[in-house]
Amino acid sequence: MSDAVARAPVNERAANATRPERSPAGDRTGGAPPLEARGLHRTYSGLAGPELHILRGVDFTLDWGEAVAIVGASGSGKSTLLHLLGALDRPSAGSVRVGGTDIATLSDEAAAELRNKRIGFVFQFHHLLRDFTALENVMVPALIRGDGPKAAKSRAAGLLDQVGLGARLGHKPRELSGGEQQRVAVARSLVNEPHILLADEPTGDLDTSTSRDVQDLLFEMRERHGVALAVVTHNRELAAKAERVLRLREGVLDNV
Ligand SMILES: Nc1ncnc2c1ncn2[C@@H]1O[C@H](COP(=O)(O)OP(=O)(O)OP(=O)(O)O)[C@@H](O)[C@H]1O
Ligand SMILES: [Mg+2]
Repeated sequence: MSDAVARAPVNERAANATRPERSPAGDRTGGAPPLEARGLHRTYSGLAGPELHILRGVDFTLDWGEAVAIVGASGSGKSTLLHLLGALDRPSAGSVRVGGTDIATLSDEAAAELRNKRIGFVFQFHHLLRDFTALENVMVPALIRGDGPKAAKSRAAGLLDQVGLGARLGHKPRELSGGEQQRVAVARSLVNEPHILLADEPTGDLDTSTSRDVQDLLFEMRERHGVALAVVTHNRELAAKAERVLRLREGVLDNV
């Protein structure tokens, strides 16, 4: 994406976004998929018990613009895997490549920068900053990236409008419903126009009807922004909306 495009207003870029092939031979990824993991292992050393070997050789590729659901029993390691895929944690063995870049080759600071630019996160509990308004919460990743406040504000406002919260810009999280808070989190995840959206139980804390609204929103945003989506969920309805469903069991990922 050219810098001029990166600075264009969200609506304009959304109109240009194409799925499933936003990619880009000429993009800075050199033709690599947005996300690729090979032979991932993650062990936790138990201070008070035996070592836990949670991931035992996970291979995973996320292609441009596709939506993949990851299911599995509680405790099977889904969140552990998503943290590794999002460069929030480092594997005990194996590799994660984001747009062709092996995150093992990056310092913590460089990994954080890559995460900020390429990856959006939506968690079960939205993790919004409680003293910041909806608008400010959505602006934060853009400001961290180094955007000027004016550009960040206009993009954040555009995104909040897209998620149906154009009339709630000045509300703090406690002045928003659970579904609205999750909508703010979705807007925030997209503000830097990431290639990848990682969602961990994004509807886990919502009632059935609000859950459906947030599911629809995620897929609408995927479509509109051409972002590739990997979503961890226990919700069958949500999983069924993805093009592929993978199950994590006994430390490995298999097609369902
Ligand atoms: N930081 C940690 N230190 C030690 N053990 C951990 C740590 N994080 C997770 N675990 C253990 O790893 C296993 C997998 O945890 P994880 O959170 O990835 O499961 P999950 O599949 O996301 O479950 P859920 O569906 O309940 O969210 C669990 O048994 C958990 O206790
Ligand atoms: Mg989890």
